[in-house]
Amino acid sequence: MTRGKFVTFEGPDGSGKTSVIQAIFDYISIKGHSVYKTREPGGNGSVIAEEIRELILDVRHTNMDPWTEALLYAGARRQHLTEVILPQLVQGSIVLCDRFVDSSLVYQGVARGLTIDKVKELNKLAVQGNMPELTLLIDVPAEIGLERIYRAKDNRQFDRLDQESLEFHATVRDAFLSLAAEEKRIHIIDGNQALENVIEDCIKVLKQHEIF
Ligand code: TMP
Repeated sequence: MTRGKFVTFEGPDGSGKTSVIQAIFDYISIKGHSVYKTREPGGNGSVIAEEIRELILDVRHTNMDPWTEALLYAGARRQHLTEVILPQLVQGSIVLCDRFVDSSLVYQGVARGLTIDKVKELNKLAVQGNMPELTLLIDVPAEIGLERIYRAKDNRQFDRLDQESLEFHATVRDAFLSLAAEEKRIHIIDGNQALENVIEDCIKVLKQHEIF
């Protein structure tokens, strides 16, 4: 059996990743491919990683130290990778993962100021070279992302990171764009357009890269 394909989706909060991934998951499934949808922090199929997620995103934990946060994300990621992602890839699935190492580089490395280099080192230990072959960065300006979060507040769980300021979210967006400029693996998708167009653009890039 051939090894599956590992694709990640990144973007600032409110970029619409969740709806985009669901639509792509449905599209690929209908085509008859084996596809697995998961997300970080936590992971579909890992109780341990999900428990770490609860701890990280708990709105009461406003005094969490930035390194504690980075270590918890990396710990959850290690568990998710070994328990869910790698076995799915071995079975030949296309794994669609909402956030991965790039989120830690941007949120903890840049926005929390721990530096990209140090957070990269930490994540190297966690993932041991198992990086995605393709990453789609759903890009939206910070104000639009934040506005969407506030609008969806009643239907969606409002987490600790969502409480950060507009400045924090703008830093996150810029850091994602800088990372994309450096990494060939990362493709920027304009998230500030109708959802069906965002989905269409993503599918085009996935096909170009022979993901399915
Ligand atoms: P979500 O809104 O995509 O579910 O992600 C939850 C929050 O966690 C989001 O604000 C981004 C943040 N995050 C990090 O800060 N570092 C990470 O490594 C990951 C995976 C997420």
